[in-house]
Formats: sequence, structure tokens, C-alpha cells
Amino acid sequence: MKLELRGITKRFGTLVANHDVNLVVNPGEIHCLLGENGAGKSTLMNILYGLLIPDEGQILIDDEVVTIRDPKDAVGHGVGMVHQHFMLIPVFNVVDNVILGSEPVKPWPVIDYKAAAARLLDLANEYNFEIDPQATIENLPIGTQQRVEILKALSHHASVLILDEPTAVLTPQETDAFMVILRSLKESGKSIIFITHKLREVLALADVITVMRLGEVVGVTTPAQADERKLATMMVGRDVNLMVDKAPASPGEVVLDVRGIYVEDERGLTSVKNVSFEVRAGEILAVAGVQGNGQTELVEALTGMRRPSAGRITLNGVELAGEPVRRFLDAGIGHVPEDRQRYGLVPTLSISDNLVLDQLDDPRFRRRFGRNLKAIKNNGVQLVERYDIRAQSEEVAVSALSGGNQQKVVMARELSRELKLLICSQPTRGLDVGSVEFMHRQIVAIRDSGVAVIIVSSELDEVVALGDRIAVLYDGDIQAIVPPTTSREELGLLMAGARAEQVTL
Ligand SMILES: Nc1ncnc2c1ncn2[C@@H]1O[C@H](COP(=O)(O)OP(=O)(O)OP(=O)(O)O)[C@@H](O)[C@H]1O
Ligand SMILES: [Mg+2]
Repeated sequence: MKLELRGITKRFGTLVANHDVNLVVNPGEIHCLLGENGAGKSTLMNILYGLLIPDEGQILIDDEVVTIRDPKDAVGHGVGMVHQHFMLIPVFNVVDNVILGSEPVKPWPVIDYKAAAARLLDLANEYNFEIDPQATIENLPIGTQQRVEILKALSHHASVLILDEPTAVLTPQETDAFMVILRSLKESGKSIIFITHKLREVLALADVITVMRLGEVVGVTTPAQADERKLATMMVGRDVNLMVDKAPASPGEVVLDVRGIYVEDERGLTSVKNVSFEVRAGEILAVAGVQGNGQTELVEALTGMRRPSAGRITLNGVELAGEPVRRFLDAGIGHVPEDRQRYGLVPTLSISDNLVLDQLDDPRFRRRFGRNLKAIKNNGVQLVERYDIRAQSEEVAVSALSGGNQQKVVMARELSRELKLLICSQPTRGLDVGSVEFMHRQIVAIRDSGVAVIIVSSELDEVVALGDRIAVLYDGDIQAIVPPTTSREELGLLMAGARAEQVTL
């Protein structure tokens, strides 16, 4: 099916999120939508899926104008969408989630689960998805949850599938599996609109690439005509340095000393086992590893969110293990959490308020009787400007920001605090290439100001680019700590569980 968006304009107050946007998606095509954070990609897709009504413009299917006023209309016209933030119900199982809203009823009101589960398995087989229909969503890895979202869309007979940053939350391994899925969907004749900030994926998958900037389409190209540099320049409107410039670290005193910590996960399984390491002032320790090897629990222990079952965590000589989160914050530990939606932000509050979360005791933001609203506002204005957070103003609720701009709010807040130790999980998840460049520079600057830094990232590029030393986590333990000159093959072997002695370093 051929899909066309013609002259789409969408305003939020005075902000023009989409301006006269044209987009044509041909049958069986993978169409990549590329653009800076806040360029208007999700807005455009939300219009196509009926979640937003455009102020101007038309949607055409097979050259006929159609009316899409809500997702039901969209589904009826064969449009399916997997959102930037998943919409599955965590405590339901796979079948329940897939049939939610379109339950096949036997004689009313009995839902025919058996038939639904069978249909789901058929569909999964058709596309070679491995899936257990009875599994509870919250127990599934992110990559599998995403397959459930895709199955849900396919179960409604979608011919056009919109995927809004599906790979942002995937590990490199899951991304490879995902690419295979996309290709097989394409082969079966589906059209796919694929949003991503990872230029390598765009070049590997796209048939056609549309680039947006500031709400407008600034170019249409193909992988044959473009390369990473060209795409980056088109998106951001200037040259982007895709490498990180950084001088060698000059490490000072030990800031963080971790000795023999054990940490249990929710299910009581030991996911961090006897881990010891130190981080000095002025250096970046990058933690590499396949997701699920203890990274999450390690970071939670280091930030006070989870109590280790044994071991010591000392910051500048002060023991913190077992203390409440407040003490970790007060000791000067900054934290960019991997799940910004759940821990990093209060979406209903303004940008300014989110930029001072957890800092309301700071004398800078207090007056004699409560909060210093003027200082909070000024801080908001300054950080919005400095970190290029795209919004109408600092008063806007964070929920109205684009995904990447939400991430910028969390980064701006944590990087602007008075810190001894900064811990960032997936610091550039969802950021456009220009913003990644900027954030990497900020992290190096913080290192150079004498802060100890820990980066946890599933992006090997980021680990190698930022780390002064790289700690590889495997099965809850540090497999080795190696220099950033270590080859990818060697890192890959360590991440897969080879012992350092077995890898020629
Ligand atoms: N409900 C809303 N109310 C007000 N402004 C909004 C709303 N939704 C989006 N915007 C604004 O519209 C602009 C475009 O946002 P959109 O989410 O489409 O960007 P995006 O291209 O998807 O960016 P990202 O790569 O960061 O996800 C942003 O400036 C955003 O703040
Ligand atoms: Mg978006």
C-alpha cells in the first residue's frame, strides 16, 4: 500500500512542530525518518496514527484522501505503530497484551484465549519470532517486549508499520536480530517507517531516507547517495565531529572505592558477585557488557537505590553501603538513570522544576520561607539554553518534550550539580548525533574538572570513545579492566565470558 502525507502542519501553541511536511512511502519500502531531537518526527507519526490531529494537510492511501481521527481509524486503514515508549501492560502476559482492545469473543462475554494464543503463535511463526504467549511482559527482555509490540500491530493486519526509535533500547545483539525481522517484514510486502538516531542502521536498512530539521523536511536521499557524515550534516545543519576529542586522563586521588560487593536483584538472585574496583578523580571508567550481566544492579548499589548484601562502598573515605539514597546524593554522587521515564523525571512538572529535583535543599534554590522561585527559573533558563533543550519555554511540562529532549533535561541536571562522582547509564540514549557530540564533550569536561566518572553503556563505540579504562562485566563479575586501545574483538570476547588470560591483550 502506498502512503502519502501531504502538507502536514501541526502547531502546539506558538511552536510549529511540523511545517508543510510531505512524505511518500511506497509499498515494501523501508523508509527512514531522521532528524534532530525535537525535529518533529514523533509528532508526524502520531498524526499518521491518529493520536494527533494536524492543523493542516492530508493523508492519502493509494492516492485517496483518508480521514484518520484516532488510532482506530489508523488501524482500520492498515497503519500500525510501535511507540518510542512502549505501551504494553507489564503485569499482563503476551496474549493478553496482543488482544487488548480487540478481544475475540466466543459467545459474549467469554474471551476465546485459546484461539487468540493459537493465532498469535501462527503469526509469530510466520515471521520467525520466538515468543512464549503465556510469558508475563515484565519478565521479558526489552527486545522480546518489542517483538510483542510488533506482533500486536501485525495482528491488526498492518500494511504500514511505524517504528519510533525501536533500537534505542536494544542491545547490539538484539539490534541485529531486529534488523533481520525488519528485512523479513519488508520481504512480505509491508512498508516500514523507521525512526532512529543511529546512522549506521539507517545506511544498512533504508531504501529511502527523509531528513527533518526544525519541523520541516530538509532532504530526501538514499544510502547510495549518502554516508554518515553527510546525513549528520543534513540533520544538524553543521559539521558534526563523530569522534570524541579527548586528552589522556590525569587521574588523582581515589574517589570511589568498591570492595567485594554482592547485590541481589528483585528476584533475590545474586547479580553482582564480589565486585571490587576503584575510580579516581579525573578519570572515566567505562563499564561494558551485554545487558543483564549485573550493570543495572551495580549502578543501583552505587547510587543507593539498592542495598548490597555484602561489601563496602566508600566515597572519599566515607562508607555509604546500606545508607539511604539521600546520603549518596549529599555525598556528591550524580546519577543519570537508564530509565529516565521511571526514575529520572517527573513528567507533569515543568522543565525548571525537573532541573532542580533532589536539589531543593541546596541554598541556591532556597529562600527564608521555602523555594526561591526566581533562582529556579533562572537556573531553568540557563540550562535550557546551554544544553539546547528544545521547548517553547522552561515552564513547559517535561511530558510535552520530545524523547531526546527529555534525556537532555536529566543530563543537564546531573551535570550541573556539584559532584565528586558522576554515574551515567546509557547517557546518550535517544540523542541525535549533534547532541551526542555535545554530551560527550561535557562528560570529558567534567572529568577534566576533577570529578570521577562512571559510564555504563551498551554502545561499544561510546565505551571506547569515553573510557580511560574499560571494565567488562560478565555474569555479575568484572572480567577484566582494560585500556581503551583494546580491540573490539578482544572486548567482544571478554563480554562473552572469555577470561583475560585467554585473550591476548
Ligand atoms: N503535546 C505537546 N505539547 C507541546 N509541545 C509538544 C507536544 N508534543 C511535542 N511537542 C513539541 O514538538 C516538537 C517536536 O517533538 P517530537 O516529539 O515530534 O520530536 P522528535 O523529532 O520525535 O524528537 P526526538 O528525536 O527527541 O524524539 C518538540 O519541540 C516538542 O517539544
Ligand atoms: Mg521522537
